[in-house]
Order: sequence, then C-alpha cells, then structure tokens
Amino acid sequence: MSRTLVLLKPDAVRRGLVGEILGRFEAKGLTIAALQQRTIDAELADRHYAEHVERDFYPPLRAFVTSGPLLALVLEGDEAIEVVRALNGATDGRKAAPGTIRGDLSLSNRENLVHGSDGAESAEREIGIWFPELISN
Ligand code: CMP
Repeated sequence: MSRTLVLLKPDAVRRGLVGEILGRFEAKGLTIAALQQRTIDAELADRHYAEHVERDFYPPLRAFVTSGPLLALVLEGDEAIEVVRALNGATDGRKAAPGTIRGDLSLSNRENLVHGSDGAESAEREIGIWFPELISN
C-alpha cells in the first residue's frame, strides 16, 4: 500500500470536472485518505513547486495555481503513485493519450487539471506540505 498527493487544479474546479476526475480515481480502486479545498497563496505554490520555481514556465504556472480554489487529496492504494500518474496521462494535455484524464479533458500544457507526485520521496514531501497532520515523526 502506498499513498500519493494529488491536486485537482483550479481549471478542474472552474470547469466542473471534480466529480468526473474523482470518479476515475475511485473507480480504479484508490481510496481518498484526506481531502481539502482551498485557494492557495504564492508562498504555498512556491513550496509545492520548489523544483520548478526557476523555470521559465513557473510565473504563469504560479498565477494559474493561485487563481481560484483547488482540491488537494491523498490517495491510497497498491502502487498509488504510479497508478495515479498513469491515470493522469502525459503533462501536455494535447499529447496525453486518450483514456487518460489529461488526454480526454485537457488541451493545455499548463492547465492540465491534475497533479500527482512523481515518486515516493516527493509524495511524502508534498503530503507534509498539504497535510502535515498525516506525517509521523
Ligand atoms: P504538474 O504535474 O503539476 O507539474 C508541474 C506543472 O508545471 C505541470 O503539471 C504543468 O501544469 C506545468 N508545466 C510543466 N511544463 C510546462 C510547460 N512547458 N509550460 C507550461 N506549464 C508547464
């Protein structure tokens, strides 16, 4: 059993796709272990995306992820990190495979609806940012 940090980004909330996307994760068999909706500030965006803050694409990404409410959740299940990344599809919605969340629902490299941790270390780091109460010391 493993767990991963998932964001349903502001485009998912604005477009009314929360139920569709959560339904895909649930239908796959993943369990929602924690869930919150909030509008984040630049400081939290910078912590979450620490590895990207120097990239050219980051300023508009920061503006996007702080632009309205998003959902943060922890999903649990067998190989949850890899399973979520497969369900999400490639980063660029224009290139993501049909059948994936981004491939079916996004036409953008930035407004790509979802984020999923990219490995075990980042999952624990990101869960610690969004749900510090879930991290045991
Ligand atoms: P995510 O999986 O949350 O990880 C980093 C995010 O940066 C990514 O999804 C996209 O939203 C965004 N991103 C990555 N590469 C680019 C890019 N080349 N142009 C715009 N946004 C990008």
